[in-house]
Amino acid sequence: MKNEWWKNAVIYQVYPKSFYDTNADGIGDLPGIDAKLDYLKELGIDAIWISPCYLSPQIDNGYDIADYRKIDPMFGNNDDMIKLIHDAHQRGIKIIMDMVANHTSDKSAWFEESRRSKDNYFSDFYIWKDPKIDGSEPNNWGSNFGGSAWTYDETRKQYYLHYYGKQQPDLNWENPKVRQAIYDVMRYWKAHGVDGWRMDVVTSISKNQKFPDNENPHHLKYVVGNQDNGPRMHEFIHEMNQEVLKPFEMMSVGEAPSSKSKDARLLVDPKREELNMVFTFEHMHVDRKPGDVNGRWAIQPMDLVQLKKTLANWQDNLEGHGWNALYFENHDRARTPSRWGNDQEYRYESATAFATVLHGLKGTPFVYQGEEIGMTNPKFELSDYEDIELKTNYQKLVEQEQTISATDFLKAARKISRDNARTPMQWDDSDNGGFTKGKPWFKMNPNYLELNVVADAQSTKSVFRYYQSLIKLRHDNHILESGSFKLLLPEDKNIFVYLRELNGEKWLVIANLSDVEQRVELLKDYADYKEILGNYATDSDGLVLRPYESKILKKL
Ligand code: GLC
Ligand code: CA
Repeated sequence: MKNEWWKNAVIYQVYPKSFYDTNADGIGDLPGIDAKLDYLKELGIDAIWISPCYLSPQIDNGYDIADYRKIDPMFGNNDDMIKLIHDAHQRGIKIIMDMVANHTSDKSAWFEESRRSKDNYFSDFYIWKDPKIDGSEPNNWGSNFGGSAWTYDETRKQYYLHYYGKQQPDLNWENPKVRQAIYDVMRYWKAHGVDGWRMDVVTSISKNQKFPDNENPHHLKYVVGNQDNGPRMHEFIHEMNQEVLKPFEMMSVGEAPSSKSKDARLLVDPKREELNMVFTFEHMHVDRKPGDVNGRWAIQPMDLVQLKKTLANWQDNLEGHGWNALYFENHDRARTPSRWGNDQEYRYESATAFATVLHGLKGTPFVYQGEEIGMTNPKFELSDYEDIELKTNYQKLVEQEQTISATDFLKAARKISRDNARTPMQWDDSDNGGFTKGKPWFKMNPNYLELNVVADAQSTKSVFRYYQSLIKLRHDNHILESGSFKLLLPEDKNIFVYLRELNGEKWLVIANLSDVEQRVELLKDYADYKEILGNYATDSDGLVLRPYESKILKKL
């Protein structure tokens, strides 16, 4: 029997920089994660995915790795990591590390060597191209962080490719030595007990070797074209599976930014031996104006019908063909109550309602640090933000191309920017929310005085306790893991409702995702269902769902 522990698991993501600081340097660290293991055990999670904590110049908060085998001193050292793995295992918690294999930092020894000459061992570790006759970039590809995806290197007199920041050169996966070097790193951490991997932008590792220009639909000089899912992507991922994932029984969840559910099948169908799960981006785009030149900064109100359609499509299309990874929040996403719910009057209700509809689905739910207490977006000023993506996009869209005004950009940033999730964890109401005794590396959300772990525990409306219940339900009821899924009322603009079914057992998961009361006639058909979890303490008229009211009902 294959050990598919992750199918019945809930995984908690830690963004180490912002989790808990033990040495008062203002930066969260590995001993800080260790210190909070009992907290996580109490929540009930099965595994922790730790965002990159390797040696890094921190241009992109660790997603720019200089040495895959070394923990960055800001987080501790390798022994701290080994101890953390050990201490987590003692509590029955697994550890998932983050593998950023599409690119490294430009401060990596591999890149330092590579740029030195065209004929050393590392020369072909990256993607180098000669300038065009006129000295310009090899093609018009744009970086996700704004500007060209090519940067000229004076030493090598060539351009190198980077899908992200210019300090994040892309590795050349065509080179078998690169692939082996990555697999070696994965074996190294496996030898220290790591249980699996979250694979950063893994769908970008294969590049079209013709390096064709992107068709440019806009007036913009650079566009990010469809650079994902390149021609050898499946071959490379399958090789990684055979070399490391399968022999060492390591769980894998890949980040798959532009994959649709039909592409995902090819990545996660167990028969193909590639990945266990992928993170889709599709359901996170329901508040973005399609086709707008300003991309993620062109926000619109969330379209619930679309959200349901997308999630249901992934449920349906992966049925029998693979496993879903379920999430609303991570270190690249804003806080759900602020983004799609109501982070004022109905903070508890909207946090728990979105959690209910997510955790009721078939797949493995991921909880991002702070989500379990209903943390919210800070409403920062532009100068408070730190994120490289936000800054480079601001320069490009507001300052250079002027396709969006500074005011609209800030409005969008407060709603969807990645920094919304990166403010330090709010543990209590002491200075800096108990996150650090020093000066936090990033501004705290000032609401930590009222919104924190201790206050949540003392409240009658505890988001944490609700998450505990959801996690326990998943562990105790096979129907959540294996039951079929059927979306009901697909066109309803306010209600998210679906049915799970297993061997005659039937569960109804329902939420009102609006701030007004809704009467749901459909509930008449479910009069013989009994509530097993709900986010309101008092009963209402059976057919009415109050603002952000959510329930899980079971057929008697
Ligand atoms: C992924 C990460 C993100 C990072 C990017 C480049 O999308 O989640 O944080 O900036 O890859 O590594
Ligand atoms: Ca620290």
